Amino acid sequence: MSRFLPTEPPPTAKPAAARRRPVPPCTGTPHPAVKHHLDRAGASESYDPDAGHMRRRGERAGVEYIKLGATGLDVSPICLGGMSYGESDRGNHTWTLDEETSRPLIRQAIEVGINFFDTANVYSAGSGEEILGRALADFARRDEIVLATKVHGRMRPGPNGGGLSRKAILAEIDNSLRRLGTDYVDLYQIHRWDGRMPVEETMEALHDVVKAGKALHIGASSMYAWQFAKAQYTAERHGWTPFVTMQNHLNLLYREEEREMLPLCADQGVGVIPWSPLARGRLARGWGESSARSETDEFGKTLYGEADRPIVEEVGRIADARGVTRAQVALAWIVGHPDVTAPIVGATKPGHIEDAVAALTLNLTEEEIRRLEQPYTPRPVAGFA
Ligand SMILES: NC(=O)c1ccc[n+]([C@@H]2O[C@H](COP(=O)([O-])OP(=O)(O)OC[C@H]3O[C@@H](n4cnc5c(N)ncnc54)[C@H](OP(=O)(O)O)[C@@H]3O)[C@@H](O)[C@H]2O)c1
Repeated sequence: MSRFLPTEPPPTAKPAAARRRPVPPCTGTPHPAVKHHLDRAGASESYDPDAGHMRRRGERAGVEYIKLGATGLDVSPICLGGMSYGESDRGNHTWTLDEETSRPLIRQAIEVGINFFDTANVYSAGSGEEILGRALADFARRDEIVLATKVHGRMRPGPNGGGLSRKAILAEIDNSLRRLGTDYVDLYQIHRWDGRMPVEETMEALHDVVKAGKALHIGASSMYAWQFAKAQYTAERHGWTPFVTMQNHLNLLYREEEREMLPLCADQGVGVIPWSPLARGRLARGWGESSARSETDEFGKTLYGEADRPIVEEVGRIADARGVTRAQVALAWIVGHPDVTAPIVGATKPGHIEDAVAALTLNLTEEEIRRLEQPYTPRPVAGFA
């Protein structure tokens, strides 16, 4: 039984101090807000990072389901990322798998019990949504799956071709639903913050999408914690729909989110669904090894660097000692993270889904977690652009 998937009723939460694993403080004088969090991380009493993460037993072998944040949605503790699937000559990702190669992977995910799928309007210029939508229609029951997509990225040149204006949001939800072949998504996420837009315009438009029945819930993705808090209090002040999830960048090589965003989400019962949990493959292979994706993944090249090497090597040592893959070790760390609901994994081979499911039952020891986390040093904030 995975510690991620306890039996009902949900277990009594461990004391926050025992579960929180703060990132090392930045050198120099931290921002007062950072210092506040780091100080209280070891000594909080009222703060309950598990608030909203009600877990329940699912019906399928292999995967049990948990609640997505404070919503009623049952999701697998692994979400399958749709960015890997798309026509490689559309959009920015030349490494994506075509439809014929993608479909067996999506089907495999469904068959092992994964019911949570993430994509975005921009992935392969819309073809990511088309491929995922057709596969889900053929292999899954719509009522069982939880389908998430995103809006913000530029879909065409010229005015009103991207961003989070009312005009863009109302056009893009309809475009996504058409490509996905469904009349609603379970989760509609803003892919980034749009600093050119009054937050009131964005939050009211998202609320109207929900009220129109085109999305059941809304979520957000990488941004500063103050921006997320501003959006939430704007929604609350106006009686609009708040965000229920945060899709942010978190893995053993990038833990800056542990300073502000994760404590905020835990305190507010917001589900956390990190992207690139394997650091786009870097945590799943030896240092210096590459793949077709890593050589052409321009965004990925901006996120990681030489300081990552000792962490990657430690993942390898622990994987070798246990006789499991590096991916299983790195994913076990994130599915066991006290603030994480479900990482969004990218799978380009059948073994990747097998590893992701195996990670759910790989319980790292406290000593192994310490060894994986100890080499981390503060990183520049990355991935918000
Ligand atoms: N909100 C955002 O801004 C944002 C940003 C990025 C991603 N996302 C979401 O997050 C999802 C996942 O992102 P990601 O693909 O970067 O995640 P990831 O899980 O960190 O990386 C996936 C890559 O890792 C390698 N890999 C995966 N499992 C492996 C295994 N078991 N053994 C060896 N290698 C393995 C593969 O690399 P190779 O293909 O090179 O072999 C695969 O393409 C996306 O599909 C998307 O839905 C969102």
